[in-house]
Amino acid sequence: MIQRYQGQQAQWRLSFVSDSEKAMTLTPGDGPCAWTVHVGDSKALTPEGLRRAAAKAVKTMKDLGGKTGVLDAAALLPILGPAAGAALAQGAELALHEAPTFAAAPREPITLWLDGDCAGLDQTLQETAAVTRSICLARDLVNCPANKLTPADMAAEMTREAEALGIECQVLDENEARALGMEAFLTVGSSALHPPRLIVLRYRGGGDADPICLVGKGVTCDTGGYCLKAASSMKGIKGDMAGAAAVFGAVLALAANHVPVNVTAVIPSVENRISPDSYIPGDVIGSMSGKTIEVGNTDAEGRLILADAVTYAIRQEHAAKLVDIATLTGAVVGMFGFTTAGYLSNDEAFSDAFRAAYGRSGEQYWPLPTFPEYRKMIESPLADLSNTSSDGCGTITAGLFIGAFAEDKPWIHIDIAGTAWVDSPRFEYQTKGATGAGVTTLYELCKGCAQEV
Ligand code: BES
Ligand code: ZN
Ligand code: ZN
Repeated sequence: MIQRYQGQQAQWRLSFVSDSEKAMTLTPGDGPCAWTVHVGDSKALTPEGLRRAAAKAVKTMKDLGGKTGVLDAAALLPILGPAAGAALAQGAELALHEAPTFAAAPREPITLWLDGDCAGLDQTLQETAAVTRSICLARDLVNCPANKLTPADMAAEMTREAEALGIECQVLDENEARALGMEAFLTVGSSALHPPRLIVLRYRGGGDADPICLVGKGVTCDTGGYCLKAASSMKGIKGDMAGAAAVFGAVLALAANHVPVNVTAVIPSVENRISPDSYIPGDVIGSMSGKTIEVGNTDAEGRLILADAVTYAIRQEHAAKLVDIATLTGAVVGMFGFTTAGYLSNDEAFSDAFRAAYGRSGEQYWPLPTFPEYRKMIESPLADLSNTSSDGCGTITAGLFIGAFAEDKPWIHIDIAGTAWVDSPRFEYQTKGATGAGVTTLYELCKGCAQEV
């Protein structure tokens, strides 16, 4: 966490000023290591704009070899208030958070302080720091190679962090999942030597109300199975658990900030690999809901494990509302690129709450339609559903497949296949690799639901 500046020795001073003339720019100030960061017109400023400005400034400092710096927000805070300070701190921290390296030589750390004051600053900095830490933990999990993060490793990492914050954790192994009838989850999960795990994190901050359940896809490696991916698509397979990382991060941040809401993360974690008894295209499998599924493609594994996780959330965790989040389809990357995630929902009011949440978080999402024609595309002649579409529309049909298991619960499906990972940063506060996509928006969504009651 970035500490308040109290006269420490620092090489660099980055002074943030707002003026209506200049858009976001950096100009040299007095002395070699003093820079002025023009953040633009104060009336048009958003936390997102400030995150980007701070990120750009500290990346510049880093590129020039700076190791210690003061973010001087003394001119901004009295006009813009504590949220501006928190946004600067968050942008700077995220910009410096890189994938851990397995190389022998460690990176040299960079230390920053925030100068300036206004009413309520400490409290806002603290709340945002908990969210920032969660984004960084989510990034670390996603950046972790599949051979160092099996489903059991993921369960261990997550429960260690969650238990430290008083979150109740339960990890179901394959035998417990079998007893519940989770055939779709187990069909994917038994394709590998490393057995599957269903990770459940229960944060109870809101009395005895039924929880919002956040369901995150936790495929630690997606080779495609027998519908094997091309070598060029396989490099990113370790990042196929970014949905799991997002729900984990959101629940941690809610707990750290004692937000008065009940939220349960449900994370089906598996490897999608090839083994002698792996599932193959054409198979018909069952599911915890009782619905049968024809497998059109073993690379459409995410919706299979999410379907059972959604049923688990309804039957075992008594979900009041459901969100599932996943790196689910290549099609969403084709549509929206690496800056914007797609979503769809069965509930107007919950969608409105989600739109408000991403308005506050600054992440970019765009809604997709759910017309009845799209549902027809996942019908099967043999089973209740097919896991592939007969007529394209890959992102919508994948979402609707999962929605078929949401019963009558308000439900939102989020596809972060484009936004979870960047080979080159699209926003200044990103670094190469995992982005931590979804953490802040899910945090804001659940916090918004807390304020409802
Ligand atoms: N995990 C992938 C989707 C993905 C693609 C994530 C690119 C990140 C970047 C998913 O399991 C998958 O392979 N989906 C297939 C589904 C298809 C076979 C119906 C896809 O989108 O190609
Ligand atoms: Zn796949
Ligand atoms: Zn996948």
